[in-house]
Amino acid sequence: MTSTFTTYMGLVTALATAIAVVTLPTATDAADPVSPALLDTYLKATFKKLPEGWTWDARVAQDETQRICSETRNKPSKDDAAKILAREAATVQYPADGKFIGSWKDGEKISQNGRGGQFSDEPGTVSGGNCYACHQMAPKELSYGTIGPSLLNYGRSKGYAEAEVKAAYAKIYNAQSAVACSNMPRFGFHKVLTEQQMKDVVAYLFDPESPVNK
Ligand code: HEC
Repeated sequence: MTSTFTTYMGLVTALATAIAVVTLPTATDAADPVSPALLDTYLKATFKKLPEGWTWDARVAQDETQRICSETRNKPSKDDAAKILAREAATVQYPADGKFIGSWKDGEKISQNGRGGQFSDEPGTVSGGNCYACHQMAPKELSYGTIGPSLLNYGRSKGYAEAEVKAAYAKIYNAQSAVACSNMPRFGFHKVLTEQQMKDVVAYLFDPESPVNK
């Protein structure tokens, strides 16, 4: 017992020493141990080859909204929050045919699918919405994250109202049009989901036949 403990403590001490050696800040870094410039340089160096058609700035540099949310740790001033909401709302492109409801069955698959946008994906992999990573949706699904609110009975609880359907589409297209520094991805804005996929996910939330509303 004692010797195990001693060995364990020895390991902890050795690890602590190793960590201290690695992360010990230099005199210049001490005031700013993770300077954004240093982080940027490191990050860029790790991306040796960007996929075709991607530019570093378009994919990795923060836009104005992200910059403000980062700098304020997601607590923007009232003024900045209002500016973000207006700017992000202006990016939402509603379906040209005016229809917001697609197929709930396809929407279910999209909500469950967390693939896409990963370096290990085969070219042409269709991205999912990974909604279950953050939301409860259909009651039969036992595995879901709770970063976002439960969307159980979402359509029914909103009375299947047209304005709510449109608001949900906008939320999914660009979450930051509704909550300035939302943790929810901007699915349409970043072209993670296509228009049809967003319609399908809206159907999953709003179709009375969808398991979400049963
Ligand atoms: C990384 C986590 C995350 C993912 C993934 C995510 N959401 Fe969200 N969602 C949130 C959070 C957090 C909120 C709460 C409001 C906010 O902060 O934006 C939210 C809010 C919502 C709302 C508004 C709920 C209300 O209060 O009326 C809807 C609708 C919604 N999400 C749908 C979806 C759908 C559909 C998907 C998948 C396409 C999805 N979300 C994926 C985090 C997420």
